[in-house]
Amino acid sequence: MDMLPLVKAARVGVPATAPEPCIPSQLVWAGATIRAVMAMTVVGHPLAQHLLTQLRDVQTPPPVFRTIAKRLTIAIVLEAVRGLPAVEVEVQTPLERTTGRLIFPDIVAVPILRAGLGMLEAVAELFPEVSVGYIGLERDDVTLLPTSYYEKLPPIEGRHVLLLDPMLATGGSAAGACAKIEERHPAEIRFVCVVAAPQGVDKMRREHPNVPVFTAALDRDLNDRGYILPGLGDFGDRLFGTGSDSGLPPSRRP
Ligand code: PRP
Ligand code: URA
Repeated sequence: MDMLPLVKAARVGVPATAPEPCIPSQLVWAGATIRAVMAMTVVGHPLAQHLLTQLRDVQTPPPVFRTIAKRLTIAIVLEAVRGLPAVEVEVQTPLERTTGRLIFPDIVAVPILRAGLGMLEAVAELFPEVSVGYIGLERDDVTLLPTSYYEKLPPIEGRHVLLLDPMLATGGSAAGACAKIEERHPAEIRFVCVVAAPQGVDKMRREHPNVPVFTAALDRDLNDRGYILPGLGDFGDRLFGTGSDSGLPPSRRP
């Protein structure tokens, strides 16, 4: 069999369907197997990167953090909704009739509590008709495994799910939430985060290869407490002003 060209699966601000270069761990042969490989879009737009830099800044206080998180989510969701079903409609402008397109998706937004709540308002503003479900997961500080403490989901079957969680670290939370949603047979799940670690991306690729990941950054690593490096610290604590050591070793905690 002829060798097919190598393609990259990590994409920088391009539609999820276009073949684009990927990080080394995701190199695959194009063709039949490509569909089994999770696609990842890193939103490299300068505005997204500007906002991300502000979020990373340890000096950014919770009220500003919340505002910036919402703006950045809008920038990432703009990429994440590419390719959703749309309908052509006729519209009367003040001057004449023309045609246009309306996104006509049956979207369900599912924030993973708590930190995912920081992304929900952006989605609800962009899609006021969205249905919202909630999955509550909390990561154990020692094992880094998520435990489930809440679940309230609307009908999911055949619908387009935007799963929201800003931090893809070990990937346990995102993969666990995908498993819960997949039991309900959605048309598709798209995972929207702010910062991803290679370990989390790898877990998603292995366990949920059909779930594309949209993020503003693919960071370097995790520290020994499962925090993303360089990351932005504990998103939930920074969002809700609950204070945190942000995964720092005891000698460097504030
Ligand atoms: C954080 C974050 C993700 C999870 C990511 O939540 O919001 O849900 O950790 O880590 P993982 O990829 O290793 O699973 P956390 O459990 O700290 O709860 P919180 O949102 O209530 O702060
Ligand atoms: N959860 C966070 O909030 N931040 C990390 O870096 C990892 C998990």
